[in-house]
Amino acid sequence: MAEELTPETPEESGEEPIKQRKNGLYPGVSDELAENMKSGWADTELHGLEPIAQAEHTARRRAALSARFPGERLVIPAGNLRTRSNDTEYAFRASTEYAYLTGDQSEDGVLVMEPVAGAKGTDGSGGHEATIYLLPRSDRENGEFWLDGQGELWVGRRHSLAEAEQLLGIPAKDVRKLPEQLREATGPVRAVRGHDAAIQAALTDKVTAERDEELRVFVSEARLIKDEFEIAELQKACDSTARGFEDVVRVLDRAEATSERYIEGTFFLRARVEGNDIGYGSICAAGPHATTLHWVRNDGAVRPGELLLLDAGVETTELYTADVTRTLPINGRFTPLQRKIYDAVHEAQEAGIAAVRPGAAFRDFHDAAQRVLATRLVEWGLLGDLDVEKVLELGLQRRWTLHGTGHMLGMDVHDCAAARTEAYVEATLEPGMCLTVEPGLYFQADDLTVPAEYRGIGVRIEDDILVTEDGNRNLSAALPRDADEVEAWMAQLKG
Ligand code: GLY
Ligand code: MN
Ligand code: MN
Repeated sequence: MAEELTPETPEESGEEPIKQRKNGLYPGVSDELAENMKSGWADTELHGLEPIAQAEHTARRRAALSARFPGERLVIPAGNLRTRSNDTEYAFRASTEYAYLTGDQSEDGVLVMEPVAGAKGTDGSGGHEATIYLLPRSDRENGEFWLDGQGELWVGRRHSLAEAEQLLGIPAKDVRKLPEQLREATGPVRAVRGHDAAIQAALTDKVTAERDEELRVFVSEARLIKDEFEIAELQKACDSTARGFEDVVRVLDRAEATSERYIEGTFFLRARVEGNDIGYGSICAAGPHATTLHWVRNDGAVRPGELLLLDAGVETTELYTADVTRTLPINGRFTPLQRKIYDAVHEAQEAGIAAVRPGAAFRDFHDAAQRVLATRLVEWGLLGDLDVEKVLELGLQRRWTLHGTGHMLGMDVHDCAAARTEAYVEATLEPGMCLTVEPGLYFQADDLTVPAEYRGIGVRIEDDILVTEDGNRNLSAALPRDADEVEAWMAQLKG
């Protein structure tokens, strides 16, 4: 006889309830089918797995964290799937803090750093034991593998806890038991907020916003200096991004026949095939859209004779992103006015990049680029009879330069955003930091203070610059920036 749901109910078994399939189409399940589904499955456990490439780096990052917070339990969640509608979810991306400290990207995962009794941890060793809490493989016996919305039959095979331990080098336990354990735990706790509501709820009475923020700030500042694994990932991201830009140039005629969406889709293909995703919403801004800094609607026309401002970055499979902008003449040749504005931005970028070196103030590259742009704007007669010093003092160039000249780059496009002012914007550059240098000039279509021919032109050039021991290295140098070189590169790609 067909019954609504024959496997043992959670109440009967005393186990955590199996979540219902979310599509609402729960079929009748006979005793026979339920019994049948329990068996006949091969043992697919994997043995002798090699640790992931960054395991030694994640161990060192956890040791630094341990040294900073001796005697305290630290809880760092990956986050959960977020519903888009009904049983459909947004693409999942693990929290940066979790991925940085574990190398894992599983939804629902949680890293817990448990203080070791008596250990001070001030030397960075032995202060904590790390455990990673994960969803284990789906049980066949209780039916969760096919009756639960997160069952492996629906979402694909997960690593077993034993496999995860081998890969990550961290002991792994079942995350479904963690909220209860956290509720019962005693002693000081800090957690990274905003990713996992169930974990946060379990800690409500134990944490404070201020102490949790100190944890977030520490991880953000730890990421200011990239290790060798991270630098290689950022180079990979830039190399993929360069290929994505080439893809776009090759299909500009198809974009002209459709819209900016063709550019967005073309770049996205490269990001998904070579990496995890795009690192942020691609800005595919043709013509006057280039003057809108966050133009991500990408639904406008692509017209020959106008410029395309393309700001896009591939995020690697290990979650490091590039952030690159090129401003390209859609038909392959700059007009004299477009070139004049482009050359000024290029000159400003060169001055900015030249100011990136160890020991320089973080603000130096911004100031250097702004000085060049202000000089050109004065020369072009756009600021009356004010001289450059006065313009800079009053910041009047900002009507057209609009934004800061760059930011830290890494796992987040605006990386290390929780770092304290004194550790970031008021600090000096150090080898291993990676930042963007991205000056721009933007003349809005309705700006009556500039000659009509300037209106609707926006130019930005953005590269990803690594601070080295003796200066810097441009990780995105594969893409040309000089106007002549841009035209030659486009001619070659367009055939
Ligand atoms: N694409 C965002 C930025 O350049 O900061
Ligand atoms: Mn940027
Ligand atoms: Mn950008």
